[in-house]
Amino acid sequence: MKNKKHIYPIFDRMLGRKDKEHLLKQRSLMLWFTGLSGSGKSTIAIALERELHKRGLLCRVLDGDNIRTGINSNLGFSEEDRKENIRRIAEVSKLFVDTGVITIAAFISPTDEIRQQAEDIIGAENFYEIFISTPLAECEKRDVKGLYAKARAGEIKHFTGISAPFEKPINPALSLDTSQLSVEESVEKLLELILPKLKYE
Ligand code: ADX
Repeated sequence: MKNKKHIYPIFDRMLGRKDKEHLLKQRSLMLWFTGLSGSGKSTIAIALERELHKRGLLCRVLDGDNIRTGINSNLGFSEEDRKENIRRIAEVSKLFVDTGVITIAAFISPTDEIRQQAEDIIGAENFYEIFISTPLAECEKRDVKGLYAKARAGEIKHFTGISAPFEKPINPALSLDTSQLSVEESVEKLLELILPKLKYE
């Protein structure tokens, strides 16, 4: 690590997560969505946010296309860049979780190593891995952004599922296949999982 010598974190003097959760009357947690491009991660994340918001719960959604045009605009899709992408997102997510906010990340995060890195940064006790398990054939059929066609034509290199790996998570908290479930059904399953954990008593 560079230049750490003269850095003095002041987290011990700041108000903490408990104070924030008390203010917001909610418990925070991290929902980490993983899955192929076009699997439905962002769609479900946004629909879930709306449902939680309606219930008076404060959320933050972080998703690939937004983060990659801002904080991570200097990163591409090599293995190294994806790792750095996820590392920064996990650090940002940790700040949100520590602010009492229900944090929902929707990134391909294609390997066990990358997801483990995120979990280590955020803390296993806060971290719920949600596998959006929509099969490749379905994602490719939808091809909402037209990227699968470009990847097949060789116009995009290292495209996840076509010319770059996607490792299915081994033990996710929940799997949601959007070729089988409607957005509403997926959101319902997520609410069942997390609402009890968000209650502030
Ligand atoms: S990750 O692998 O580093 O987690 P991330 O979720 O941030 O990826 O970004 C994925 C989005 O970037 C895709 O939904 C797609 O729109 C776009 N994209 C552009 N090039 C690629 C590529 N080579 N592989 C996967 N997604 C790509």
